[in-house]
Amino acid sequence: KRLVVLVSGSGTNLQALLDEIAATGAETYGARVVAVGADRDGIEGLARAERAGLPTFVRRVKDYDTREEWDAALTEAVAAHEPDLVVSAGFMKIVGKEFLARFGGRFINTHPALLPSFPGAHAVRDALAYGVKVTGCTVHFVDDGVDTGPIIAQGVVEVRDEDDESALHERIKKVERRLLVEVVGRIARNGHRIEGRKVIIQ
Ligand code: GRF
Repeated sequence: KRLVVLVSGSGTNLQALLDEIAATGAETYGARVVAVGADRDGIEGLARAERAGLPTFVRRVKDYDTREEWDAALTEAVAAHEPDLVVSAGFMKIVGKEFLARFGGRFINTHPALLPSFPGAHAVRDALAYGVKVTGCTVHFVDDGVDTGPIIAQGVVEVRDEDDESALHERIKKVERRLLVEVVGRIARNGHRIEGRKVIIQ
């Protein structure tokens, strides 16, 4: 299976996928990354892709007159690589109707909280501020809401009294990377179907 991965930052989730595929081999794993896209330049996630010899593309919202034109451009850039699955690994933009029309049902996101708790761009900070004792990460299919799509898998992470946002996020990311690698591989190898809010991996 062909994966396109979208990033906006350090790309450690992308790196976890690349490392797993290199270690197990694309045949065994069931997928390989064919391209990496971003919404901004100069991020470590793109450098990781380039080091891996992968094609990259950047589509910045500010380069387009409307959000819809950006969405269309992103859709086209992803479609050019003919992905079977698209993975948002820290991609910090909300995609639009055209993208979802094209890739809905095979567009996976990873979120650093136990959805439906703490959706949005500051999940770790919000969980810490709320004072939860456990949090975690969620891998889900993207729907037309923000972090509201059908949940595929979740991992639990304890919150420690001495945690600040970055310490907690790093601990979450350790679990998140393993969860994403495991889920993407299973879906790539076995296929999946979505029935309402339930995700069934064959
Ligand atoms: C991940 O925790 C992701 O869930 C969140 O931002 C982080 C991205 O990390 N949206 P990286 O860019 O994969 O290192």
